[in-house]
Order: sequence, then C-alpha cells, then structure tokens
Amino acid sequence: MLSPGLIGGLTACMLTIFLPQTVQSRDAASAAKKKEVKPEMNVEVKPFGEIPEGQKVDLYTLTNSGGLKAEIMTYGAIVVSLQVPDRGGKTDDIVLGYGNLTDYLANNPYFGAIVGRYGNRIGKGKFALDGVEYSLAANNGENHLHGGIKGFDKVVWKAEPIKHRDGVGVKLMYLSKDGEEGYPGSLNCTVTYTLTGRNELKIEYLATTDKPTVVNLTHHGYFNLTGCQRDIMGHELMLNADLFTPVDAGLIPTGELRPVRGTVMDFARPTPIGARIDPDAVNRDEQLKFGGGYDHNWVLNGGGRSLTLAARVYEPTTGRVMEVLTTEPGIQFYCGNFLDGTITGKNGFVYKHRYGFCLETQHYPDSPNKPGFPSTVLRPGEKYQTTTIYRFSTRKAARLR
Ligand code: GLA
Repeated sequence: MLSPGLIGGLTACMLTIFLPQTVQSRDAASAAKKKEVKPEMNVEVKPFGEIPEGQKVDLYTLTNSGGLKAEIMTYGAIVVSLQVPDRGGKTDDIVLGYGNLTDYLANNPYFGAIVGRYGNRIGKGKFALDGVEYSLAANNGENHLHGGIKGFDKVVWKAEPIKHRDGVGVKLMYLSKDGEEGYPGSLNCTVTYTLTGRNELKIEYLATTDKPTVVNLTHHGYFNLTGCQRDIMGHELMLNADLFTPVDAGLIPTGELRPVRGTVMDFARPTPIGARIDPDAVNRDEQLKFGGGYDHNWVLNGGGRSLTLAARVYEPTTGRVMEVLTTEPGIQFYCGNFLDGTITGKNGFVYKHRYGFCLETQHYPDSPNKPGFPSTVLRPGEKYQTTTIYRFSTRKAARLR
C-alpha cells in the first residue's frame, strides 16, 4: 500500500513535471523574489592583496537575512564596509574606510580596526606592574596611543569562517609575542565578529597571557549613519553615563570621575552631536578644547558587569538607529575632530572634519597608572573576555505639526 505521504510526494512531483510552463516560471520567479528579499545568512572569503612583507590578506563577506552586509579583512581585523538599510529599505555603507588594501597600508587613522594591546592612551608610555617598570612607544605626543607603532590594527590575523545558530561570522586570531611594542607576556587573542539574525554586528574578545600584562581591546569603527553624505553633527546621541573621565591637555585622564550633568558632556537625553560644539563652545569649555571637540571616555552606568546599553545614535534624515551594548565599563566617544578633508575614502568620499564618529567600548584610558580605575591587568590562568554589540534598526520620521 502507498502511504499518504508518498502519494502526496508523487502528486507534487507529477505536478512539477506536467504544470504548464508559465505557472512553473511564475513559481520560480516568486521563489527568486522571495530569495532576493530574504537572502540566506552567508559567509564568503576572497583574497584582498598582500602586505609588503609578503603575508596574504583575505576579505570575509558576511550577509544576514535583514539586509546587512559586512566586509572584514584579516589585516588589522578591519571592518572595511558595513551595509545597513535606512527607513525606506535603501542600503548604504555606514562606515568610513578604503576600497583597497594599499590605501589602508598608506594611511589609516584606525578606520574600522581592532585596536590593541591597549586601546587609547597610556600616560608617557610608562606603567609599572608587580614592581617592574615597562616603557612603550610615545606615538602621540609624549603619550602612548592604541598599542604603539605597530599595534593590532597593523598586523595580519589568522582567520576562519564561522556559521552557527546565532549568525555568520569570522573568527580572527593573533598571537602578540612577549615584548611586542614593549608589553610583557605573549598574548593569545581571538576576536570574533558575528552578523546575527537580529541585525547586530557582535564582537567577542578573548585573550590569555603567559605573564602578567595589561590588555584593553576595542573596535575603532568610524560611523556615519547618513552613508557619509554629510558630517555627523545632526546625529542624535544618547550615552548611558552620568560620569566621564576629565582629561589634561594630552588627553590623559586626571583620575577624577566627574558628573556630566549641566555640562556639554551630558548626553543622558538624546542630543544632536553638534548642538553644543560650535567653535565658541570648543574655545570656552576646557574639556572640549583639549579634544578639539568630543574625544573623551564616559563611565557607563552599571557598566563592566553584564551586557548593558551604552549608547544609542539616531540619524533623522535616514531613520537609521545604532545601539551599542557592551560588557565594558567605559566608552570613548570621538567625533572625528582630526579628520580634515585630506583623506579620500571609498567611492570617492572625502572625509571632512567630523565626517565620522567612534564609540569605542573600553576600560578607561591610562588605567595601568590609575589605581582607582577598573583594572586592565591580565594574569596567567585568567581569561580576558568582553563583548560589544552594534545593533541596527530604523525609526519613522517624526511628524511635522
Ligand atoms: C581615538 C583617540 C583620538 C584619536 C583617534 C584616532 O579615538 O581618542 O584622540 O587618536 O583615536 O585618530
């Protein structure tokens, strides 16, 4: 006897064979359309050139079903592009960067990179650990910035694609040798980028060491939610922080945690980035003067324990919203003060003053010299493990009255 399932199967098969051509192609067309609207999660890899020392660089392309597409290369673990839909479904690349490896090698102000071994500054490039003094490169005035002369943004990472229930991604691995850029201990790092089904770019950091050292890894993406059409002054920013770490003229924290309330640093309520940053404000406010605009670390409310909302950015003309969630205790909000129109990036876009902003989740700058700040020391047997998520959505336009 034939089972009902088998009969059903045979009927379907016969239908496929005997249906008139037009019906079949209409079916095929609608299937293709469906596929176009909801593409599968996918990860692909292709060559992206090689560095002068001969190491080959690959480019991983991640796509999800929500219209997001990220290109990530193994040099610097750099997010080269990030396509995100606006409120009308139109997709644009919302990160700054270049279209080819050569330009990244020539001049990269950390566009899209993973920064390490210590993201942000260490005062005078010196710190002591267990009674031993370490000296690092002074590559930012008298201070040490973003891991030194050849930080994690300038090395080629090993990589492998990943695909699991949560999404698709790329796992990047780098072994920073004992003494590299002056830091003690061999540091084994893994950074995993995942494009999830919830329209998130998730970054998971993992590191272990064989000697006591300091670690502070971050992602240095420059975002412009207009798709780089104009500067970022009209983006509305909310920072979930009641305190920030004031700095000296070299952008090294003084050690104080200062309330933001009543100052230009207050982003507790969504506020356009440019609302209080006119040249007068910059000249009047000592903190803005030091940074040439915003370039400070905010102390996240409830940060440093579990994954917490750190920031939300809304761009009114396109409706794009980006939320940043992190397990880190701080976030550096830098608004592209050093961009000055001398860099031409992807698709011929000229990156003028404040054409991109960074939200770098982190431990506070100069923590190795600030006993009152959360510690950045990592010891053998311990695991450095942090997560940051950049989550994308859209919002409808506000109604005009
Ligand atoms: C960080 C720093 C800034 C600047 C940029 C790179 O965000 O805090 O001062 O160095 O990186 O240009």
